[in-house]
Amino acid sequence: MNLVFLGAPGAGKGTQGSLLAERIGAHKLATGDLLREAVRVGSELGRRAKSYMDAGELVPDALILDLVRHTLAGAERDGSAIFDGFPRTVPQAESLNAMLRELGSPLDAVVVIDVPEETIVQRMSGRRTCANCGRIYNLHTDPPTRSDVCDVCGGRLSQRADDREETVRHRLSVYREATEPLIAFYEMGDAPVHRVDGDRAVEQVQAQVLQRLER
Ligand code: AP5
Repeated sequence: MNLVFLGAPGAGKGTQGSLLAERIGAHKLATGDLLREAVRVGSELGRRAKSYMDAGELVPDALILDLVRHTLAGAERDGSAIFDGFPRTVPQAESLNAMLRELGSPLDAVVVIDVPEETIVQRMSGRRTCANCGRIYNLHTDPPTRSDVCDVCGGRLSQRADDREETVRHRLSVYREATEPLIAFYEMGDAPVHRVDGDRAVEQVQAQVLQRLER
């Protein structure tokens, strides 16, 4: 099964994608995570992507498509894949369709997570991520037991550089302009598009995702 999770920054794509990946044993491919790792290790890709990411702009399609091709080529392709934060532009979506066709395993469904923008701005101010295992917390709704320490692995929690309010607002405008049109793009395609209300508790959003996919 191949699934795409679409939604604004902070809508909960990473949270829901990880829960579903664990539940169904899927591989989650999150371009944001891959880019942050490239920045962390100081690779050529990381050096080229960092200024776009810090400014809340999209990294150019050519860099992203190279990254995804490379990752898909190295991944085991006998299981399910969940794409989180990719595609983000119509050219990326067209390329993903072509890559999946080549692999003989087309897209099965698209899940769109809807959340009002003011909820997102508030959520992002509280997001903390474990630098070691990637577990995502929220100081308002899902805090760690000890501040700045991951409950799962004891790693250090940090705030993302692009989660400052003015950058979040810019990322939301980039989403509206470049990524939201993908919903109409997918609605014209073969894979069903499922919309879920992401302005609910994590477990309730997860229940909606499962219910839509089981249909
Ligand atoms: P990326 O890392 O993909 O960021 P994003 O899409 O902006 O999404 P986020 O990771 O911010 O949010 P999310 O929807 O995953 O929410 P989360 O589950 O974490 O991309 C970062 C940058 O990389 C981009 O700006 C761009 O520069 C570049 N990039 C990446 N991919 C690219 C591509 N394909 N093309 C071009 N450039 C690309 O949740 C957010 C917070 O809310 C957390 O604290 C969480 O605990 C909390 N939360 C989640 N669900 C709930 C809930 N139901 N109730 C309450 N709180 C909740």
